Amino acid sequence: MIAQRPPMGWNTYNTFGRRINEQLILESTDAFIDLGLKDAGYEYVVIDDCWSMHDRDPITDKILPDPEKFPHGMKYISDYVHAKGLKFGMYSCAGVRTCADFPGSFEHEYLDAQTFAEYGCDYLKYDYCNLPEHADGPYLYRRMGMALRAVDREILFSACNWGMHDVYHWIRSTGAHMYRSTGDISDSFGSFSRIAAEQEKNMCYSAPFCYNDTDMLTVGMYGNGLVGGGVSGCNDAEYRMQFSMWCMFSAPLMLGCDIRKMNAETLALVTNKNLLRINQDPEARTPIVIMNGEDRPDHLANRIYFKHLSNNEFALAFYNLHDQEGGVRVLLNDLGLPATVGVSLALTDVFTNEPAGQYREVIDLKVPAHDCKVFLGKYVWNA
Ligand code: GAL
Repeated sequence: MIAQRPPMGWNTYNTFGRRINEQLILESTDAFIDLGLKDAGYEYVVIDDCWSMHDRDPITDKILPDPEKFPHGMKYISDYVHAKGLKFGMYSCAGVRTCADFPGSFEHEYLDAQTFAEYGCDYLKYDYCNLPEHADGPYLYRRMGMALRAVDREILFSACNWGMHDVYHWIRSTGAHMYRSTGDISDSFGSFSRIAAEQEKNMCYSAPFCYNDTDMLTVGMYGNGLVGGGVSGCNDAEYRMQFSMWCMFSAPLMLGCDIRKMNAETLALVTNKNLLRINQDPEARTPIVIMNGEDRPDHLANRIYFKHLSNNEFALAFYNLHDQEGGVRVLLNDLGLPATVGVSLALTDVFTNEPAGQYREVIDLKVPAHDCKVFLGKYVWNA
């Protein structure tokens, strides 16, 4: 059984785009082990678009790996990844060509699913470019979902139709384990905060075995990468905000930076045990969203997310989306806890692991610009 919890791993696209090759994948696989990412729960090493030849094999009709990028083929890579106790992911597309114009799987779904299985693939990202006119997109996901289940291997099906055609309503039935709900993220505060604000209302569709994928993380990219083109990246506070939002959403955690060069700050963030506990909580509850202020495209209101966790615990996050330090405030009554009942919330800061007080009526915190405060919490009955 796969995808009981939100999938965790790394994907080449955000940083490398077309610039992928065997050495990059092997070195990144080593980094999973050396940095302790595997021990923290990251398991999928995923190669995105641009791994194949421009055309299929004229005789077998199979998609072929590009021998310049992958001289030993894909099975060699998956063997390497598997030998390290990790899982191997690849990419194709529901259309005739991929987004970067390599062969897609349209009307080759069963052949390609078998080929991916032969490669030892454990995860398939399935994109949405270049569909023939009048093609029925949801049906194409259904067909690949069926093809992947027909092979003799358990393959995580990662759909990527950018939230189109009300994907929330039908994707789970295709057998997909996660599904992209937005266009491509870019490495900027505006991009990830808009994605979060836009997806809050859709998080109720996300649940074990099929998660809303708010896109690969840009955490730790600092403007270096394909999606960094023209954007300066984020600072550490903004990356804390992004990562913790994805955790509060129970979104898949697919790292998108060059993990071989990850700095200490990023590593500490993405392996933070408290945040990962929130992300991987088996109940995968949708957070309650409280807004402070007006939510308009040009002005994101501050957010408070409250998420029930298993064992009667909870997580509580305060986000300051403004350019200045400010108060982010919640009345506990608005979360469903009137002051009169005599229950307090006892908080622990997820970043410092220190107790952060007990609150009975209101929590009003000063939060620096573009930063967050995130807590784990328990209920306390007052004497
Ligand atoms: C986009 C997709 C990206 C990446 C890219 C590859 O459609 O959203 O995540 O896979 O294609 O060309």
